[in-house]
Amino acid sequence: MDIPPKYSVSEVMGFLKGKLALRLFEKYEHLGHRYWGRHLWSRGYCVSTIGLDEDKIRKYVKWQEQQDKKELLDNAPHQRIFYVEKDGEVKQARGQRRKRAVSRDAKFILNISELNGDEVVLDPFAGIGGLVIECLSRGFKVFASDLDPVVRPGLAHVTNNRCTLADARKLPFRDGTFDVIITEPPFSTRYRQSVMDSLPELCRMIKPNGKIVLFIAQDMYDCITDYMAKAGFHLVRDFTLRRNDKLISHVLRFEHSRAYCIGG
Ligand SMILES: C[S@@+](CC[C@H](N)C(=O)[O-])C[C@H]1O[C@@H](n2cnc3c(N)ncnc32)[C@H](O)[C@@H]1O
Repeated sequence: MDIPPKYSVSEVMGFLKGKLALRLFEKYEHLGHRYWGRHLWSRGYCVSTIGLDEDKIRKYVKWQEQQDKKELLDNAPHQRIFYVEKDGEVKQARGQRRKRAVSRDAKFILNISELNGDEVVLDPFAGIGGLVIECLSRGFKVFASDLDPVVRPGLAHVTNNRCTLADARKLPFRDGTFDVIITEPPFSTRYRQSVMDSLPELCRMIKPNGKIVLFIAQDMYDCITDYMAKAGFHLVRDFTLRRNDKLISHVLRFEHSRAYCIGG
């Protein structure tokens, strides 16, 4: 493949990987199960200006596989260190299983969000930062927020203090602050009403042509999609993901209908 000099290799590879992953997930639904939460593609790519032989390519693929495994392990919620507040003290904790965290799933969610890197992102249900960390690793400017004071020090640490302790139903940001909201609200049905009550806030804070990407439990699908449609948001992507027969969830990407109509 030839790449004209006005594009960088990384730009072209990012574009190709993003578009191809989406096409494949749409066409072959089972990939969504198999690659539940995974990057379909590795993070890297192999490029040479003087040519590559088969041996070099094989070595690269092997090396990249090892890198991927290491990265997933280092970022796994039960592995990575996160600062928490307990009894008025900040402590290092490993293995925050209490919160559903999505180090693998985050890659998938970010892929289908199709960001170009200039966007300002908010995660208002940030938990122990699975989505936030993935956004930061891709170079996005991210703000995190969560209601739980326990996770505040950890969020402050990973976001370099771009975080706040706040209820997603009333957030301290002006209208139209964010290009993208990517978030995983609580799955449990006891939070259903508060998740629903947070939707007007999310719609308020998004820029007119912004995106809202929600990773939600199956049983909140109807009420959330109904609300978003009434609020003028178009459902642009809808992926059903299954971990097992009991846990079915959706990754939904909404865009404002007006922007969607004008943009095509
Ligand atoms: C499913 S977890 C998010 C996990 C996160 N994506 C991660 O990778 O760690 C949901 C989070 O929502 C928070 N939460 C629940 N109700 C909230 C509310 N009304 N406002 C803000 N955060 C809330 C919980 O404290 C929890 O951390």
